[in-house]
Formats: sequence, structure tokens, C-alpha cells
Amino acid sequence: MSESGGRYAHITGWGAHVPARAVTNQDLSQILPTSDAWIQERTGIVERHIAEEGEYTSTMAIHAGRQALKIANLDPSVLDLVICATSTPDYLMPNTASLIQDGLGAGNAAAFDLNTACSGFVYAVSVAAGLIKGGLYERILVIGAESMSRVMNWSDRSTCVLFGDGAGAVVLEASDRPGGVLSSKLGSDGSGGDLLMVGLGTRLPITQDSVARGETAMKMNGQQVFRFATRIMSEATKEVTALAGLQLADIDLIVPHQANTRILEVAAKQLGFAPGRIYSNVHRYGNTSAASIPLALVDALSEGRIRAGDHIVFVGFGGGLTWGACLVEWSFGPQDRHWSASQRALRWIRDRLARVKGGLHALDRKLAAAGRGRRKGDDGGPWRGLGPGQP
Ligand code: UT7
Repeated sequence: MSESGGRYAHITGWGAHVPARAVTNQDLSQILPTSDAWIQERTGIVERHIAEEGEYTSTMAIHAGRQALKIANLDPSVLDLVICATSTPDYLMPNTASLIQDGLGAGNAAAFDLNTACSGFVYAVSVAAGLIKGGLYERILVIGAESMSRVMNWSDRSTCVLFGDGAGAVVLEASDRPGGVLSSKLGSDGSGGDLLMVGLGTRLPITQDSVARGETAMKMNGQQVFRFATRIMSEATKEVTALAGLQLADIDLIVPHQANTRILEVAAKQLGFAPGRIYSNVHRYGNTSAASIPLALVDALSEGRIRAGDHIVFVGFGGGLTWGACLVEWSFGPQDRHWSASQRALRWIRDRLARVKGGLHALDRKLAAAGRGRRKGDDGGPWRGLGPGQP
């Protein structure tokens, strides 16, 4: 996928959210045979944030999405589509993006989940940019959100110390002004699916025994994934740069998936980049899978590492095996996203109205369902207890 003429997809808003509870390496060394020294030396991770009771992939995503809409100064009601990149959805059904769409009050948006694990955000941005450039949609909210702590085997030190929870979001908008997402390159090698997997699904019976044996939790062949990650990060970066008609020297910053600082160091060497040109915040959040790139993006923006006109590469790799890279000509720095008091007030009012409207829809459905039950004059018959959606 490379540049299309005339219509462009710009990132106009961004947001991030992590749970309040930070768990340090030291904390983990109290419950596992591990140490702060091992984790920091082998991965660069210092702490990660873990969702508390009542916090889910969708709730973190809603926080991040709201911030992104605020920066873009958009009402949720003008969104055409919400894509949630996640491998840890709230449920198998309904999809998490629909929960987010409802939570935001984005009543006019379609919504779907996209699961390519740690590459999910790059896949979702690429799909969204394609839909915008193709003329199908004007405004899309892309969110990477994960509750990795909920699929860990907390007695497997080789995986559970690596991952964390969080969400990051961007708004993509159509424009005829050149720039935005210039090129994308996505890939997959399903023969490596067993190298990194979470067995939860319809193939493996979920029983007390399978859960107790850790069969439904995350399993990873760390060394093989490490080799794949270091190779693919530099390859995908080179490919996406060539597709945009640029040279590696034109890249101002790579915002990669945050799995391990050693992977980023190897990639920097392969690309001939000074380490500072590859952004890392893995020490703060650990590996948050599909959320890691937007979390890194928001930190890089707030540290002033990205300015309007910069060429940024997002590059992700992970379960599937999958990988992907996007090259973005950055359109707006944080300083360009300041809105007047009246613009903010108007958006605030529309935002509240959209949420009230969403609540009224849900209430309306409940009242209609209750009314139908009364009209039937029976106890619900064979559909009794099936909840919303019963005929
Ligand atoms: O997001 C998706 C993509 N995922 C990745 O990119 C992850 C890629 N892989 C990695 O980042 C690294 O392979 C790991 C961080 C997962 C592991 O680092 P490693 O240097 O490959 O370690 P290892 O698996 O070779 O293990 C070395 C030693 C072993 O002990 P012995 O056999 O040498 O005695 C492990 O048992 O380290 C031990 N070990 C630990 N020790 C303390 C493994 N985990 C731990 C731990 N604390 N948490």
C-alpha cells in the first residue's frame, strides 16, 4: 500500500490510559523467583501497570479514545468507525469496539475488533488509512487496548514479568492536504503461531483443570520470538520507507512495539540509527501488546520528540506471527492542537449529548423488551433468561 493521489489520512488526535496500579520488578520478586536486576538487564522493564477489578480492555480504551477525540476537537457522534486492536477483548462477543463505541456515545460509527496481537495497532492504522484514502470514511478512531495481566500464568516467570495493561488511541481524518499515513507494509507467517500464543478460545476446552494447568494462559518461546523480532523490525522499516519513496536518513523517529530494549538496540544497529532515533518507554509499561505503540507515541509527543513535518515509522511484531510498519508524515504537534474556550465548550456539550443519547437508546431497548414480555402475557417461554436480543 503506498501513496494515493488527492486524499490523505492524517492523525489529528491521540490519547493514552493505563491503570493506576503500578507493579514494580521488586514487587514481582516477592511472589516469583525473579529479580529487578534480571528483568532490567534482559528487558529494560522497570514497572508495568495492572488493571484492577472493574477495569477492562474497553474501559481503558474509552479513556484513551476520549482524550484522542478531545485533542482532535471532535464529538464522538461524527466518528464513522471505531477499530479496536486487541488480543484480550472483554468478551468473545460482543466485540470490544462496539462496547467502546457505546461508551463514547459514538452513535453513528461502525465498530470492529482486529486481532493481530502486538502488530494490531499498525494493522488497524493501515486499514483505517486505506478506508479513508479509498473514500469510504472521513473520521476513524483507532485504539490499541490490552488487559494482558488477565491472560498471564502468574507462576511462569518467563512471561508474566514482561507484560502490562493499557490503551492508546489515535483519530484519523480525511483531508486533501498532503501528508499523514504515507505507506504501510503488513505481513504474517502463520507457521510460527505456536511460538507465542494464548490458548483461550473455542479449540481448547476451558475447564477448571485446563485453567489450573496454565493451558489457557500466555506461552512464548522467547528466544525464537526475539530472533524474529530483531530481523523483522529493520526489514519492515526499510520496506515501508522505500514504499513512501523516502530514505532511512529521512526518518526522524521510529516508534516501535515495546517488547524489550535489547530488540530495539539490535534494530538500531542494523538500521545504522543512533539509539535516540528509536523511541522507548518499555521501562514504564512493559509489553502492552497492541497498546504499546500508541502509548509510546503519546509519551514521545508529550516529551516534544515529534514535531509537525517529521517522518515517523510505527513498527510492530508479535503473535501470529504477524508484523507491520506504517510511515507517517506527522501533521500536527501538540502546540497546534489548542482550541478556543468556545470550541472546547461546544465539543463538551455535544460530547455529553452524544452520551445521553446512547444511554437513552439502551433504556429504550430495555423498556421495549419489558413491554414485549408483558404483551406476550407469558413467562418468556423458551427464550426466558436469554437477555437482550431474544425474539
Ligand atoms: O510482544 C511480542 C513479541 N515478544 C517479544 O518480542 C519477546 C522476545 N523475547 C525476549 O524478549 C526474550 O527472549 C525474553 C526477555 C523473553 C527472555 O530473555 P532471554 O535472554 O532470551 O532469556 P532466556 O529465555 O534465554 O532465559 C535465560 C535464563 C534461563 O535460566 P537458565 O536456563 O539459563 O538457568 C531462564 O530460566 O533466565 C531465566 N529466566 C529468568 N530468571 C529470572 C527466565 N525468566 C526469568 C525471570 N527472572 N523472570
